[in-house]
Amino acid sequence: MNQEIYQNIKFWFDTYTNRFLSENDEIQLNFDLKRSHSFNTVEIITELSLDCELDDEQLLIAKTIALLHDVGRFEQLLKYETFSDNEQDNHIDLGIAILKSENVLEKLEEETVQIIFECIRHHEVSTLPKSINENALTFLKLLRDADRIDILNIFSKYYSECKPGTNKRLEMELADKPEISKMVYKSVMDEKVICKKDILTLNEQKLHQMSWVYDLNFKRSFKVVSEKNYLKKIYESLPKKDEVIDMYRQMKIYLENNL
Ligand SMILES: [Fe+2]
Ligand SMILES: [Fe+2]
Repeated sequence: MNQEIYQNIKFWFDTYTNRFLSENDEIQLNFDLKRSHSFNTVEIITELSLDCELDDEQLLIAKTIALLHDVGRFEQLLKYETFSDNEQDNHIDLGIAILKSENVLEKLEEETVQIIFECIRHHEVSTLPKSINENALTFLKLLRDADRIDILNIFSKYYSECKPGTNKRLEMELADKPEISKMVYKSVMDEKVICKKDILTLNEQKLHQMSWVYDLNFKRSFKVVSEKNYLKKIYESLPKKDEVIDMYRQMKIYLENNL
C-alpha cells in the first residue's frame, strides 16, 4: 500500500458515490450524509491512530478501511430505500461484493485485502468473534471507534435540531414512543452496549448510540466523546424520566472514569 494506491481508491470512491442521485430529497440528503460520513470517518481514524503508533503504510490502510466501510450503503439506499439491514440485503455484504466486482483493491497485497474485508464485516457486530484475524484487530478497533464517533456527531445534531420523523431512514423507521424496555435499562445499568434486537423505539435507538461509550477502545475516543458532549446532547432529546436520568448518569460516570 502506498500513497498513490490510496489516492486511486479515493478517486474511485468519489466517482462511484457521485453516481448516486435521487429526485427524492430525503434520499438525496442521505446519499450526501453517507458520503460525508465516509470522509469524516477517515479524518477521525487519522486522529485516533495517534494512540497506536501506526507506520505510514498502516495509516493508509486504516484510512482506506474508514473510507470504504459503508460503501454498501449507497446501493442499499438506491435499491431498497432504507438503511435497515437484514440477512439477505445488508450494507456489509453489498459493500464487499461491490469492492470485488469493481476490482477496487486489485493493487493491494492479499493480506491487506483480507484485513479490509475483515474490518468491513465486523464493524457493526455487537461482540467481536474470537476467530478474528490478529492483524486486523487494531484496524477494526480504530474503525469501530471512528465510525461511532462520527455517528454520534451526526445524530446528536439531528436529535437537537430536527423534529422526530424529519428523516425516517436515519431513524430506522422506528416509532417515537415514550416506552423504554427493561432489557434496555438493564443493559445500560450493567454497562453493556444495548443489543440491536432490543431497539424498538426511537428513544431506545438514542440510548443504544449513547451506550457505545461502553465499547470504545482508545483513550482518545473517550476524550473526543467527552469534549464534544455527545452524551449530554442526545440525553437532552430524551424524556426526563427517572430511569433515563439513571442511565445517563451511569454512562456519564463510565465515560469520566475512562478519561
Ligand atoms: Fe456501517
Ligand atoms: Fe459507518
